[in-house]
Amino acid sequence: MVNRGSSHNRTLAIRFLPRKPSPYVLTLYIISLFAFSIFVFLFYTRSILEEDERKPLLFGELQSEQIPEEKLWDSPFGYGLHPCVKPTSKYKVAQGSEHYITVRSNGGLNQMRTGISDMVAVARIMNATLVIPQLDKRSFWQDSSTFSDIFDELHFIEALKGDIRVVKELPKKLETIPRARKHFTSWSGMGYYEERTQLWKEYQVVHVAKSDSRLANNDLPLDMQRLRCRALYHALRFSPPIESLGKKLVERLRARGGRYIALHLRYEKDMLSFTGCTYGLTDAESEELRIMRETTNHWKVKVINSTEQRIGGFCPLTPKEVGIFLRALGYPQSTLIYIAAGEIYGGNTHLSELTSSFPNIAFKETLATQEELEAFNNHASQNAALDYIISVESDVFVPSYSGNMARAVEGHRRYLGHRKTITPDRKGLVEVFDKLETGELKEGSALSFLVRQMHENRQGAPRKRRGSLPGIKGRARFRTEESFYENPYPECICSSKRQLQMT
Ligand SMILES: *[C@@H]1O[C@H](CO)[C@@H](O)[C@H](O)[C@H]1NC(C)=O
Ligand SMILES: *[C@@H]1O[C@H](CO)[C@@H](O)[C@H](O)[C@H]1NC(C)=O
Repeated sequence: MVNRGSSHNRTLAIRFLPRKPSPYVLTLYIISLFAFSIFVFLFYTRSILEEDERKPLLFGELQSEQIPEEKLWDSPFGYGLHPCVKPTSKYKVAQGSEHYITVRSNGGLNQMRTGISDMVAVARIMNATLVIPQLDKRSFWQDSSTFSDIFDELHFIEALKGDIRVVKELPKKLETIPRARKHFTSWSGMGYYEERTQLWKEYQVVHVAKSDSRLANNDLPLDMQRLRCRALYHALRFSPPIESLGKKLVERLRARGGRYIALHLRYEKDMLSFTGCTYGLTDAESEELRIMRETTNHWKVKVINSTEQRIGGFCPLTPKEVGIFLRALGYPQSTLIYIAAGEIYGGNTHLSELTSSFPNIAFKETLATQEELEAFNNHASQNAALDYIISVESDVFVPSYSGNMARAVEGHRRYLGHRKTITPDRKGLVEVFDKLETGELKEGSALSFLVRQMHENRQGAPRKRRGSLPGIKGRARFRTEESFYENPYPECICSSKRQLQMT
């Protein structure tokens, strides 16, 4: 467990310990330290032994089959951690309130989901009734779906009964009265919203223009953090048609290959255009992407040096790079890979660079019948929801880029028991890929060793959420903190000793 040890993490850890450590606790502590050292010792001897077993391979091409199955597929060691979202004993059941919050939820599916979960907590802090959020229909994702098309509305209302009151619509008599229309400051703390309750002196309805990043990641009371987890992981369930098809598709994948990797291949036109990543593309393709960026008003950065982006590790991996990466990690050619994505840029031209080494590829279009997908056509968010379900349920999740979907899926997998998520070290990998390109390195055991070592600690093992980058002050630090929904540890993930907080 790596604790990058920002000060708030330390204070949180201290808060969980009893005030005056008794001799009994001290003894326990020493015993666990001792047990931990033995564990570390065994762990290292084990990897040394494995190294020895592998030695003969260094003389030839590394056969990917020879990496132990459990290393490829098993979840990282979980230290007995488990989800915990029950409120503390101080938490009071919600009262009904005559004050209402309406909100327009912005962004793609995952930005909306985490934003709505934040709004649940905001409504709680402001002691307000939350009206079922309106979903953004104007965003890039152009989707006319309403809340109840994507989420199980009744379940959402019921599941949050002890936390806040949620209603389907504003009462008729309030529809015409003036509302306070607010752009709340991003990443705000508890105090900010407590002050905003002053609005109730003048208004009965507050409209919030955007739902994303309403709350800070850190330094919120434990009960608020747990409420965010209850909202996201329990209340905000997908609508029955989505849940049911999602489940079916997972079953079909399992029937086909047993285990599968879900690859979030963010090699889509909007992403490449937005990031300015044109490595490996033709001049015509690069120009098409540049024009799209030029003409998309809400993307502020227009001039981008693709080479610098790539070297900095800011580009999504290309299908070809993903292929090299997975081979180096030791996944055999027969591995079943589900591709969670919209339309891959350039279609088969680029995709074939991955499928040539991993032919056992599945998309929702190949798993579901046309009739099954009919209802989902032209609904980007509903399709994204299917990808989300299949990704959370996969044995291994590999995001090719760190966007909202990658973060949300990683966090959910951590919450459910630290399921394996391999996050590519894109900066490090680009160096390796470039060496392959120049011939300094060849695919084989040396490359495999390098790549596996680079990703030893990037497999979704338990660790506390990272604080802000050092040296960053003021509001800017909030941007650099690890997202609460990417890693809800420690607040919503507990060790067994904390009996009180068990679910
Ligand atoms: C919350 O609102 C209700 C009704 O509007 C009111 O009776 C109650 O006192 C409020 N609670 C707090 C903690 O402000
Ligand atoms: C982009 O950046 C690279 C590396 O810094 C540099 O060599 C190259 O000349 C730049 N290209 C343009 C068009 O500025």
